[in-house]
Amino acid sequence: MLLPQAKEVKLNGSGVSNNNSNNKMALGKSIKMYLTIFVATTCVYMVLYQYHMSRQPLATNEVIKPPLYIITPTYRRPEQLAELTRLGYTLKHVVNLLWLVIEDANRTNPLVAHTLDRIGVPYEYLVAPMPEQYKLTKRAKPRGVSNRNRGLDYLRANATEGVLYFADDDNTYDINIFEQMRYTKKVSMWPVGLVTKTGVSSPIIREGKLEGYYDGWIGGRKYPVDMAGFAVSVKFLHERPQAKMPFKPGYEEDGFLRSLAPLDNAEIELLADECREILTWHTQTKKNSPALPLNMTRYGHTNLAFIEKLLVRP
Ligand code: UGA
Ligand code: MN
Repeated sequence: MLLPQAKEVKLNGSGVSNNNSNNKMALGKSIKMYLTIFVATTCVYMVLYQYHMSRQPLATNEVIKPPLYIITPTYRRPEQLAELTRLGYTLKHVVNLLWLVIEDANRTNPLVAHTLDRIGVPYEYLVAPMPEQYKLTKRAKPRGVSNRNRGLDYLRANATEGVLYFADDDNTYDINIFEQMRYTKKVSMWPVGLVTKTGVSSPIIREGKLEGYYDGWIGGRKYPVDMAGFAVSVKFLHERPQAKMPFKPGYEEDGFLRSLAPLDNAEIELLADECREILTWHTQTKKNSPALPLNMTRYGHTNLAFIEKLLVRP
């Protein structure tokens, strides 16, 4: 049995190569087949996976929330970087937020920009100086008004949806209020602690309805509320192209809210558990006197020469 085969092998050399090429072709075919099956299976899996993922509800932190625009007036003084640092790290806990830091100045300050960069909250740093006529007055000044109006202009030019909030740089904010104000349809309000001798400024709610306002100073205002106690929807702001804050000390909030007319009391949304909670405070930082100049002959070659450059002097 072996011999004839061996003979055949010997005699028919071309038979060998035929066999070999047949084997190679068969091998090639099966590799192709396996590859095709592999690619097809992978494709099917990918399609199924995509379909499965598309049907998965997004995790809470993936849901795209309406944007928040936080307008913060600020001005040059020894406490400035400390205030911005404290507020900035509060805002860092809030997603989809743009921090509009607007300084009452003619030009930006690199120290402020550096502080904002270090904090890492998305921001725009703009300037809006207080008009000279108000700067010179001996009476109360309209603090932060040109800054806030600049913020409104920015939103009119750059925002279409979401909510705006005026957050002074020295106040205290519980991050829960940001998640609540995010869904404001027109205007929302809530209590602010540490305002006037009443200790709190708040809408008064009786049987779920806004009845009036509690504040140590009413002053003939229609809306006796603090700057930290309300938020406005950007869409609503677009519907009120004339709305702005007046340069009228004590009447900034009232003037701005009045300029949003028509606005029905029933349309004002009451946050912070229908105004039963305090989530914002009108804290005030002690004023520090300007830093003394550094004695360079004595300390010029020490670290003090570096940190001296980080001090905000009026
Ligand atoms: C109170 C209210 O809470 C403010 O909302 C209101 O703007 C202010 O009074 C006012 O009507 O004058 P108060 O703590 O007395 O706030 O004022 P500041 O905190 O000194 O200033 C309010 C905001 O304006 C701050 O963010 C501050 O940085 C800024 N500001 C102050 C300026 O931009 N320029 C200034 O010359 C002073
Ligand atoms: Mn303040």
